[in-house]
Amino acid sequence: MCGIVAAVAQRNVQNILLEGLKRLEYRGYDSAGMAVRSPEGELVRQRAVGKVAALEARLEGSALPGLSGIAHTRWATHGRPSEPNAHPHQSRDRLAVVHNGIIENHEQLRRELTDQGYVFESETDTEVIAHLLERESRRDGDLLSAFQRVVAGLDGAYALGVMAVDEPDVVVGARKGSPLVVGVGIGEAFLASDPLALLPVTDRFIYLREGDVVRLSANGRIEIFDAEGTAVEREVQTFEHGDGAASKGEYRHFMLKEIHEQPAVIAAALEGRLGDRSVLVESFGPDAERLFQQVRQIHIVACGTSYHAGMVARYWLERYTGIPVQVEVASEYRYRQVVVPQGTLFVTLSQSGETADTLAALRFAMEQDNYLGSLGICNVPGSSLVREADLSLMTQAGPEIGVASTKAFTTQLTALMLFALALGRVRGMDEDEQAEIVAALRTLPALCSQVLGLDEAIERLSMAFAEKHHALFLGRGAHFPIAQEGALKLKEISYIHAEAYPAGELKHGPLALVDSEMPVISVAPNDELLDKLKSNLQEVRARGGELYVFADENVGLNASEGIQVLHLPHVHEALAPILYTLPLQLLSYHVAVLKGTDVDQPRNLAKSVTVE
Ligand code: AGP
Repeated sequence: MCGIVAAVAQRNVQNILLEGLKRLEYRGYDSAGMAVRSPEGELVRQRAVGKVAALEARLEGSALPGLSGIAHTRWATHGRPSEPNAHPHQSRDRLAVVHNGIIENHEQLRRELTDQGYVFESETDTEVIAHLLERESRRDGDLLSAFQRVVAGLDGAYALGVMAVDEPDVVVGARKGSPLVVGVGIGEAFLASDPLALLPVTDRFIYLREGDVVRLSANGRIEIFDAEGTAVEREVQTFEHGDGAASKGEYRHFMLKEIHEQPAVIAAALEGRLGDRSVLVESFGPDAERLFQQVRQIHIVACGTSYHAGMVARYWLERYTGIPVQVEVASEYRYRQVVVPQGTLFVTLSQSGETADTLAALRFAMEQDNYLGSLGICNVPGSSLVREADLSLMTQAGPEIGVASTKAFTTQLTALMLFALALGRVRGMDEDEQAEIVAALRTLPALCSQVLGLDEAIERLSMAFAEKHHALFLGRGAHFPIAQEGALKLKEISYIHAEAYPAGELKHGPLALVDSEMPVISVAPNDELLDKLKSNLQEVRARGGELYVFADENVGLNASEGIQVLHLPHVHEALAPILYTLPLQLLSYHVAVLKGTDVDQPRNLAKSVTVE
């Protein structure tokens, strides 16, 4: 998704902006651009289609020196990826604008501006903002007040960075529906859509609130105004994650690094949340116990991988708490006539905390009667979701750069298991059963390390997939959503069409697809559904399907003709969905590497989907 970086500094900002854009590459984009105010007092701009490296090459030929500037990576929404559509957009060489989000009333504004003589050079919705600003700043020369008038007339979602030729050392910004942070430097100030972009220059951030407008000026001056235009103070927060997360280290791809970080981040997700024999309910916040006692029903809403985590949680929550749970994708939920029984808790999950559909679902839910409150399970401190949910639980995975979510998913599952146990504790779950799972949770990071030791064997297995066009994933019970997550990973990064089914559903249709060209992947932990699963696998073999099974070492499933088996260490049945995710991630990763795809930034996808 689009990314913004901007700076007002006491040094040349070109490389600060460029480095910031490189750090935003993980969000997914198709073109990049930068504008600075030159020492001669002109707005100068470079844009390029493709990677930030293409922009960098242009800058080598023609540098953009200056003390203030704005930069952008664009993920096309209005108009194809092209240089004229890349940001920054300018108006009459006087103003430059970068924008994340979508302006919904852009067509009407474009007509109005065209009638007034403005000439459009792009197909974007963003360009209207540049011309509106040009028009408004002519009415009275002050960029800030012109900007405030312009944003008041914009419908839709935006994070904006703007500079004007007439105001040296000034950048103004605003956010509504898209994230924007202010980086607080020493005598310098910055803007970015993600704090990661600015970590080389500061670790102190102000997370702007909905409707905030900010003005950065010389000597690091930062002025913030709320949606009503009142000057406000916002807290400066120190960024918690180490900057190591922004580099690949010894790994070939961020995705592989993040897969291998899972033992450590799962341990981090458990830290401070486990008592001797039970989960510490207080770790959910001082109000959690009172809230949990009132819960009669749970609605879980999320997108993509986060939705799969919610699907797994349904099995856990219903089993350990007896509370009915509904799980739904956010883009459907937000437009549905939802029925909310008294005492329903709204739970939402998001790695980024900025996914537009998920945030809209949270806001929609909080407008309904009967919800007790909301719990946001999220990986990014200070994100919109964390700020807007009543309770929040951080997943502690650290920044996830690879577009395909890996460590964020397994830490979400870990957090959801903690939630199920905490709620179970309040609702009278059997104490010995809770103690058994808590003990098993303590061994989970070490078991994950053992499974990651299968990396080479999985790499060998992956060779069978490189030439395939389709794959089926099977699982039963809480492993059906794990099969779905395995299929999503394979689709996302290797572009192989993959579907997941509950194994028992096979004979109701998908079995017709099975032949020697259709690899079938299954997870077979040692649980109560194992015998049923074994029969389903026989159904596949009987039709000549090639099976690839990740199985518990104790279940007696061994390789034979047409069946390849990799054994996983025994794990408590409750935690198997977390452990069995890892081999599926590694399988997709190795297939993608063999196919030569862009593993960390797969085509057409964005890390954080901040538009609807
Ligand atoms: C995961 O591999 C995907 N790239 C995607 O499905 C993602 O999980 C989804 O867009 C939701 O993102 P979020 O967790 O940041 O809300």
